Parts: sequence; structure tokens; C-alpha cells
Amino acid sequence: MNSLQLSHHYWTLLLSPADIVIDATCGNGKDTLKLAQLVPEGLVLSIDIQKQALDETADLLKKSLESDSIKRIFLIHQSHEEFPPLYPVKLIAYNLGYLPKGDKSITTLTSVTLKSVARALDHICEGGAVSIVCYPGHVEGAVEEKSLVAFAEQLSPERFTVFYHQHINRKSSPSFLWIVKKSQTR
Ligand SMILES: C[S@@+](CC[C@H](N)C(=O)[O-])C[C@H]1O[C@@H](n2cnc3c(N)ncnc32)[C@H](O)[C@@H]1O
Repeated sequence: MNSLQLSHHYWTLLLSPADIVIDATCGNGKDTLKLAQLVPEGLVLSIDIQKQALDETADLLKKSLESDSIKRIFLIHQSHEEFPPLYPVKLIAYNLGYLPKGDKSITTLTSVTLKSVARALDHICEGGAVSIVCYPGHVEGAVEEKSLVAFAEQLSPERFTVFYHQHINRKSSPSFLWIVKKSQTR
């Protein structure tokens, strides 16, 4: 199982059919499609800074889903530094790096991702999660992963449960960070 498959497995464990979820890095839409399948009565907001990514996702969704299901998916052309004011959000998912087969110079950037993840942790509901697949095999990706792990390590254990999965026998392979916001009511 690779980090991407592992992230999908965690989503499956977390989500209920009517949940609201955000794909913070829409890309070619494979994660958006998976999320839409996991929340058949919910809403999916899918964000990307590249119009090309949103267009490819729209094509994939048309090929893969009934039109009623597509109505529950909103493709948003903006940076994930801000999230639409919609609540309660159960999951915000990041699949970092650049668009596969796209312009490799348009990649997620450490400072922007850190700001976005901090906002995402405020934005999700109690019991919700932030899912991050990191790609340390390229220069910006390595810095981004290191900074995210350092950020996640200092989160309060009273408020968050944090897991970090990494291959320990394969250097620079993709890793997976999973942050759950604990419920504060006892
Ligand atoms: C690895 S791809 C995502 C793959 C995608 N989830 C899929 O299933 O195909 C990363 C995407 O993040 C997007 N991206 C980079 N910076 C962003 C930002 N600040 N806000 C939103 N999307 C961003 C890129 O345009 C690219 O499409």
C-alpha cells in the first residue's frame, strides 16, 4: 500500500455519507472522485489554483459519475489559503506537489501550505481530520514535508491526534500525515 492509498483508507474509516469535505489540491481529480464516492449524500468542495486542473477534474467526474452526483461537487478556482465559509467540514485533504503531467514549476509552496493547514485545523469540525500526502522526492517537496512534520509535532496532544506514516526502507518516498481534531465535550 502506498501513501495515497493509505490516505484513502483513512478517509474511508472517517467519513459518513452526508459529510462535507474539501479537496485542497484538486489536480487531475482522482482524490475528488474518491471523496465524492465516500460522501454520496454530502458535499465536496475541490480547490486548485490551475484552471487546467479543474477542467481535467470536470471531465473525469463527467465520465465517472451520474449527473445528480456531480451537482454535489463544487470546483473552485482559487488558492487553498482561504476556505469557503461552509460548515461543518469533516475532512480537508491535501495531495501536495505539482499536477501530474502538468507544469512542474506550479507546485505547492511551503509557506502557503503551512498557512493553509493551520487554517484547515481551525476550519474542520471536532472529530474531523486534515489529510496530507507529501512528496519529499523534489526540492520544494522535501522542505515542505519537513516543515509540516515540525508543525504537526508541536500541536497540542489534548486537541489533536497526529499520525505520520513513512517508508523507513525507501528514502524520499511519499509520506502521509493525518491530523484528527479531538472532541472537547466529555
Ligand atoms: C499533486 S497535485 C494534486 C493531485 C490530485 N489530488 C489528484 O488526485 O489528481 C497538486 C495540485 O495542487 C495545486 N496547487 C498548488 N498550489 C496550490 C494552492 N495554493 N491552492 C490550491 N491548489 C494548489 C496544483 O495546481 C496541483 O494541481
